[in-house]
Amino acid sequence: MKKQLNVGMLGFGVVGSGVPQILAESAEKIRQIAGVEFVIKKALVRSADETSELMKRAGRYGIELTTKAEDVLEDGEIDVVIEVMGKIEPAKSFIKRAMNAGKHVITANKDLLAQHGPELVALAKKQQTAFYYEASVAGGIPILRTLVNSLAADRIESVMGIVNGTTNYMLTQMTQLGASYDTALAEAQRLGFAESDPTNDVSGLDALYKMVILSDFAYGMEVSVDEVARRGIEGLSTDVVKASEELGFIVKLIGITEDTGHGIHVEVAPMLVPADHPLASVANENNSVFVKSFGINGSMYYGPGAGTLPTATSIVSDLIAIAEDMKADRLGTPFNVYHMPKKIADDASITSRFFLAIGVPNNKGQLSALTGMLSGMGVEFDQLLQKNQGEQAVLNIVTYPLDLKTLRNILNVLSDDEAYILLDCLRVIE
Ligand code: HSE
Repeated sequence: MKKQLNVGMLGFGVVGSGVPQILAESAEKIRQIAGVEFVIKKALVRSADETSELMKRAGRYGIELTTKAEDVLEDGEIDVVIEVMGKIEPAKSFIKRAMNAGKHVITANKDLLAQHGPELVALAKKQQTAFYYEASVAGGIPILRTLVNSLAADRIESVMGIVNGTTNYMLTQMTQLGASYDTALAEAQRLGFAESDPTNDVSGLDALYKMVILSDFAYGMEVSVDEVARRGIEGLSTDVVKASEELGFIVKLIGITEDTGHGIHVEVAPMLVPADHPLASVANENNSVFVKSFGINGSMYYGPGAGTLPTATSIVSDLIAIAEDMKADRLGTPFNVYHMPKKIADDASITSRFFLAIGVPNNKGQLSALTGMLSGMGVEFDQLLQKNQGEQAVLNIVTYPLDLKTLRNILNVLSDDEAYILLDCLRVIE
C-alpha cells in the first residue's frame, strides 16, 4: 500500500480551509491509525487572490491554488478529491469526473446527496472507489458512522434531529428573549450562522436534505425529497412559542424519520418538545440527533452542526476511512450497505399528540361549542390553555395521540367554519 495519499480539494472556503489544520494538529495520531500520510497538493478556488487570509493559509500548508478544475481532476497523482463547494452543479459533474478517473471522493454536500446520492453511490461502486460524506449531516457530529457502525445491531424506531443551526439559534432567541422572527433572523445572519441566502435554512429544506440522508442510514431506504413533509419556521408566531412554553414545551425545528410499523414517515417542521426531553436543552446554533432504538432505547448525539474545524474533523475521519478501506481491500464498498424496499407510511399510520391554537369569539358558549365539536371528531384533551384578547379568545390545545388522517379532517372542518380561526397546528414529540 502507498505510504502517501495525495489529496485535491474542490473549494477552499470556510469548511475546506480547516482540513489542513486538522491534518497538522493530529498528524502523528492520523499516521498511526491510517498508516499513510495525507498530503493536500492542490485546491480549486474561485479566484486566487494571494492577499486573502485563506490563500495565505493555503500557502502556509504548501497547497497549490488553481482556478481550473482540470488541474485537480486530471492530475494523475491525486488519489482523493474532497468536494466542499456546495450546491448541485458543477459539484456533481466534478465528483463524477473524479470517480470516473478512479479517484476516491469525500463530500460535505447535503443538497447533492439528498437529490442525487443513489446515482453517485452507484458510480462509486462501479468504479470501485471510496465515497464518504460524514460531514454532510450535522457537521461535527459523527452521526452517519455511528448509525452504520455502533448502531448496526439495533432496530431504529425513530431518529429525531435538530439538524439546522440557524433555525435553532433563531428559535432560542424567540423562546428565551421573546425576539420576533425578523430580529432573530437578522441576528443569525450577523453572526454568520445562516447561509448567504437563508431560504433553505428557514424553509426547512436544509434540514430536509439531512433527514433524507439519515433515513437511508437508519432504514436503508432511499427517500426522495418530495416524499418528505416540510414546513419551515417562517410565519411562526411568538404567541405560539409562548403558549407552548406555558404548556411545558419548547418549540424546535425537528427533522424526524420514524418507523410507524407500516412504513417510514419523514418530516421536518417546528414541533413541540417536552421541556424535560433531552432535545429541549439543545440551544443556540448547536445540533443534536436523538435516536430511539429497540436495544439502547434512547441515545443522543450533540455538538456543532457547522463551522470550520468541526466539519473538517468529519472530513478527515473520511480520509482515514479511505486508508482503512485500502488496507482491508474493500474499496468501492458503500458508506451504508443496508438496503430495504422503500415503504412510506400513509397518514392513518402516523400517530402523535398535536398542539392546536384556535381563535374563537369570546362569547358565552363558544368555547364549549368548540371543545364539544372537537370531541365529536375524536379529539381527547391532554391540556387546554385559554388566552383572552378582548373579544377574541385563543384556545391552545394539546391533544392525546391522534392519527394524521383524523387530524387533517379536523383541520379541514375548522378551516371551513367561519366561527373559528385556525392559528396554528404543530406536532408534539415524545
Ligand atoms: N446553514 C446550515 C445550518 C449549515 O444552519 O445548520 C450546516 O448545514
